[in-house]
Amino acid sequence: MKGTTKCPINLQIQLLLITVSLFACSSSLKIGETCSGSSNSACDAGLTCQTCPVSGNTRPRCARIQPLNPTSKVKGLPFSKYSWLTTHNSYSLLGARPAIGPILVSPRNQEDTVTNQLNNGVRGFMLDMYDFNNDIWLCHSTGGRCFNFTAFQPAINVLREIQTFLQANPSEIVTIFIEDYVTSSQGLTKVFKASGLSNYMFPVSKMPKNGGDWPIVDDMVKQNQRLVVFTSKSSKEASEGIAYQWRYVVENQYGNEGMNDGSCQNRAESSPLNTKTRSLVLQNYFPTNPNATEACLDNSAPLTKMMNTCYDAAGKRWPNFIAVDFYQVLRLF
Ligand SMILES: *[C@@H]1O[C@H](CO)[C@@H](O)[C@H](O)[C@H]1NC(C)=O
Ligand SMILES: *[C@@H]1O[C@H](CO)[C@@H](O)[C@H](O)[C@H]1NC(C)=O
Repeated sequence: MKGTTKCPINLQIQLLLITVSLFACSSSLKIGETCSGSSNSACDAGLTCQTCPVSGNTRPRCARIQPLNPTSKVKGLPFSKYSWLTTHNSYSLLGARPAIGPILVSPRNQEDTVTNQLNNGVRGFMLDMYDFNNDIWLCHSTGGRCFNFTAFQPAINVLREIQTFLQANPSEIVTIFIEDYVTSSQGLTKVFKASGLSNYMFPVSKMPKNGGDWPIVDDMVKQNQRLVVFTSKSSKEASEGIAYQWRYVVENQYGNEGMNDGSCQNRAESSPLNTKTRSLVLQNYFPTNPNATEACLDNSAPLTKMMNTCYDAAGKRWPNFIAVDFYQVLRLF
């Protein structure tokens, strides 16, 4: 794909995701062109030199790891008209060492830190939070409890990374989805306060309750309400003012069940995808067992195909959040 191609601008929604570049959004980017070995320098900014043997691509080619910033393409739309790249288990990193004890048995879903993810354009983060060690921790665990061997790190570390980014980038908006196992009183409130993130939180009172548009992004920026937080626990909306996710978001099934070709069903906690009283749509696309080798295939044409399936299932709405494993191997071939 050489030369300059004009982007068809879809004013309904400005899709951010890499895969969308499939629809010919490139300005002389050397996506798909052969590069040499591990040398990224041959590829344009935002691209890396990769192979994808699992899909038969053993020849190294330039692939995009940085999505286009959707607000740089079209400004002034409601928050609910943009799509944001989202990482599943954003904290569960391949290189993570056990924080406590000798082993960390949890499966890994991503490759680089939340700070790098932010710098590469990820704007949605899925974080599993637990009470642990008299604090709130990020754990990839089971049975609603965190153990030494499933504990990654205190949540405040990652929240501070997000705080640092929001402070340094005053027009960026970030969304956090908490898989919430915290039962300690005001546990989330305390950790968000301690991280400095409370100052940025978009208030629940301003979230559309009946499927209306969200405020335009410029207003969220102007008010400095640039952090959207959802919890999976409905009671937290009343007790801590943290939005209950499925009052505002519809979401498809996650894991292998969410990857059945031609089918986009809601997960149990979510209303059906075509429920228009929920303004936001979240699309999961990752297998039950994360697989770093297969991700380059999953995050390519099959993901785009599922986006179209989910678009129809959601009543002609593109996903606002597209959640993947190993986001760095989003590909175009
Ligand atoms: C977890 O790790 C802590 C700190 O190393 C240790 O004191 C505790 O006994 C461990 N818990 C279990 C159940 O092994
Ligand atoms: C990951 O996918 C590869 C390629 O399909 C497969 O050979 C391997 O067994 C998978 N690994 C895991 C842990 O499932």
